[in-house]
Amino acid sequence: MNHFELKNGVMHAEDVPLPQIAQEVGTPVYVYSMATLVRHARVFRDALSGLDKPHIAFAVKSNPNLAVLKVLQREGYGADVVSGGELVRALAADMAPADIVFSGVGKTHAELVQGLEQDIGQFNLESEEEGYELSAIAARLGKTARCALRVNPDVDARTHDKISTGKAENKFGVPIDRAGEIYAALAAMPGLDMRGVAVHIGSQLSSLEPLETAFEKLGRLIADLRGQGLKVTHADLGGGLGVPYKAGETFPSPAEYGAMVARVTKGWDVALSFEPGRVIAGNAGILLTRVIRVKRSSNASPFIIVDAAMNDLARPAMYGAWHDIDAVEPTGGRTTAHIVGPICETGDTFAMNREIDTLEAGDLAVFRTAGAYGATMASSYNSRGFVPEVLVDGARYAVVADRLPAADIMAAERVPDWL
Ligand code: LLP
Repeated sequence: MNHFELKNGVMHAEDVPLPQIAQEVGTPVYVYSMATLVRHARVFRDALSGLDKPHIAFAVKSNPNLAVLKVLQREGYGADVVSGGELVRALAADMAPADIVFSGVGKTHAELVQGLEQDIGQFNLESEEEGYELSAIAARLGKTARCALRVNPDVDARTHDKISTGKAENKFGVPIDRAGEIYAALAAMPGLDMRGVAVHIGSQLSSLEPLETAFEKLGRLIADLRGQGLKVTHADLGGGLGVPYKAGETFPSPAEYGAMVARVTKGWDVALSFEPGRVIAGNAGILLTRVIRVKRSSNASPFIIVDAAMNDLARPAMYGAWHDIDAVEPTGGRTTAHIVGPICETGDTFAMNREIDTLEAGDLAVFRTAGAYGATMASSYNSRGFVPEVLVDGARYAVVADRLPAADIMAAERVPDWL
């Protein structure tokens, strides 16, 4: 459920008509609905209410906008960060350091120091080598790093290959069959408080089955570790729950996910944490765009050229991802067309031969489900500026990220005086 709906024939974000935002902020522009974000945050939290004090860390990578983080902080969410930059953002949104988990396969020395200095809640170690490096830094700084070991359970998440993370050949975590040995070695190191295990097998999962298999393997590992006399008080079950991108698609609900987790983790006797991203932010945002012109030069489908492009919304070009496209002021007519951006690459295509609302030059349209992995994956390719972001709350809205014009990006460049 989201709050991007037609009212009197005009699509609104909550109570704000999208043409007003297009007029005042310009297009393309990302628009987020605060009511949807809050609702998703609560639905997910309620789905876990059968567990003993679950910790929820929003996957900042999915939408790192400061205002979005602030909304989630107010809902009691912590943050799952994967870089020093995301850590700074989580802190800027007033997330408590203790509520921050640092994931990522390539944390740099400087990032490990930064996490320790901020006294974050937990490092999710992705390798033995990372553990030794963190131990040395912690010992030097006189600090203790609370750590979980991320394991690679070798489970096929049955999602797009580029966002699958839990197969043996993926770079993430340590092989589950070596986890006992590595955990024991790290638990003996100074400066590390090895307290748990973590798993995340991929994103946009359409079935709970692979998650259940991975969690069962994690449960057996916890028992094995304890059997070796090791302490395990925490388990981080990652994110990954998928969301519908096409009208009418159904996905496992947070409630079904929560029930599965409660069943599988019964008796684990650990504090559980979660790292949802897409399920919170995905359907809380749209990308609003204007049709530049419609090119009808052959008998095949026309090209509807919009002012958003692959630099603004990379998912279709990168993963062949589907985003529903709807007119902001539908006339009732339908057409079959290719929807493309202005960038000079054939890959800058949002949809081929898609049946959509009739759109003509100057009309507004939205790409739905753009709140996660949307603005954050934007680039300035073709010297297009960075797309702005707007947060709507009822009848009011605020620009929560300015458009960064191409000229400002160029201003950060230098021509050396020897040229
Ligand atoms: N935790 C870890 C360790 C992760 O790597 C990720 C996502 C998450 C949590 C959050 O997963 P979610 O709940 O959002 O599925 N750019 C891609 C998605 C990349 C996901 C990367 N990791 C896309 O647009 O589909």
